[in-house]
Amino acid sequence: MSKVIEMDHPLVKHKLTYVRSISTESWHFRDLINEITYLMLYESTRNLTTRTKRVQTPLAMAKCQVMEEEIIVVPILRAGLGMMDGFLRLVPMAKVGYIGLYRDEDSLEPVEYYCKVPDPSEATVFVLDPMLATGGSVSAAITMLKKQGAKRIKFMSILAAPEGIKALQNNHPDVKIFTANIDKRLNENGYIMPGIGDCGDRLYFTP
Ligand code: PRP
Ligand code: URA
Repeated sequence: MSKVIEMDHPLVKHKLTYVRSISTESWHFRDLINEITYLMLYESTRNLTTRTKRVQTPLAMAKCQVMEEEIIVVPILRAGLGMMDGFLRLVPMAKVGYIGLYRDEDSLEPVEYYCKVPDPSEATVFVLDPMLATGGSVSAAITMLKKQGAKRIKFMSILAAPEGIKALQNNHPDVKIFTANIDKRLNENGYIMPGIGDCGDRLYFTP
């Protein structure tokens, strides 16, 4: 069973409070989602490998570490794009792939419309989507990545529902899940409760 890591950092919890609030404007909402992603990276990149590099300091030679792994970040369109700037600010060497999926409003099943990803077979792939609700969208995205050869995948979300965690663990037990918060449940329309509402709409001013 894949591990779930829920952030317990006070800054993450503080920023999430303003993400939740209906009074938060889109421009502030976007900043907060990126800032939380940035803070979560401290945990989600913890096990990446480094190699030794010797550098000359002003005083002496020093044996240092540099990142060794190829990293690919894949935001799930649209809302996943809201986490990408925060990710790339800290990991600018990452390659970027895109997967387009939306959730059918009635069936709640994911509908695929786009996939362009660099060869993931040798990389560690970080999939970004702020919302893990039923788990259908991220499960489908990870299936697409595995078909293309991805072997090491991590998933980062801002909010996760217990139902979505269970579904993702069943579908992809090898994928570690990082989330800023595990909320209580899904409502009858498949929204996370208490949640943040429709994340894509709040990011991009869609009524
Ligand atoms: C949202 C969200 C996830 C999905 C989560 O996307 O960004 O991709 O729903 O729900 P699930 O876990 O039940 O599949 P949405 O379909 O609203 O599309 P959007 O990002 O284009 O707004
Ligand atoms: N997608 C969202 O944007 N919000 C939810 O609560 C569930 C799915």
